[in-house]
Amino acid sequence: MPRFSRPPSSGSPASFGVFLIFAGTAYYALTKRRLIIEHRKGSPGIVVKPERPYITVFGPVYPMTIHHAFTIAGTILALIHFATCTDYSTLAGKAGLGMAIVLILMNISGFYGRYVHVKLEMAARKKQSERLKRFTVLLRKWKLFHVALAGSFLILLGIHLAVVGD
Ligand code: HEM
Ligand code: HEM
Repeated sequence: MPRFSRPPSSGSPASFGVFLIFAGTAYYALTKRRLIIEHRKGSPGIVVKPERPYITVFGPVYPMTIHHAFTIAGTILALIHFATCTDYSTLAGKAGLGMAIVLILMNISGFYGRYVHVKLEMAARKKQSERLKRFTVLLRKWKLFHVALAGSFLILLGIHLAVVGD
């Protein structure tokens, strides 16, 4: 049995998709904490300075919008790879199936998180302290869930990449 019985490029859309997911998440996480890189609204440009946070990126959209766009585009590419696979019974296939489920859950959870964010901001603007407290607790719980899903995606991806092609 030849080692590559299917087109060897079949993992490429997924590789690019996973790259987009990582890039969209890393950019948000770094700019949110102003670690290495900060993001400011404005016409596109990059300024590099010798002091922290070293890099200032100017762009027309918020880092959260980049997070949404990159993770959704990355998910679509990963799901194209998933849909073109034929064997879901192997360990690689089961890890792939797990990742597909986790990715769909992550995207649904992302939209829910965005909804909670909006509610929280509205409560803060209207100075509704009870609602503000409720949505703060909800957001904290949601974030734990969203990040836990991201962690399980990483574990499944590690398994998938370790056994794929066996
Ligand atoms: C860096 C990212 C990835 C790379 C490089 C990659 C690569 C590969 C390769 C080379 C195969 C074997 C050939 C094939 O069956 O088409 C494969 C199989 C598979 N992949 Fe991926 N993959 C990646 C991510 C993903 C993701 C995110 C999912 C799920 C959304 C997934 C689901 C699957 C499934 C279900 C299979 C079939 C398993 C089998 O044939 O034994 N992969 N992958
Ligand atoms: C594969 C898909 C995704 C992955 C792996 C992912 C991963 C993450 C991670 C790790 C964080 C925490 C960042 C940090 O605080 O340092 C985060 C935050 C967040 N994500 Fe996602 N995400 C995905 C998709 C989405 C989508 C599709 C949306 C919205 C439509 C979304 C909305 C959010 C929001 C609102 C936060 C901010 C939480 C906060 O800072 O309060 N995510 N995401």
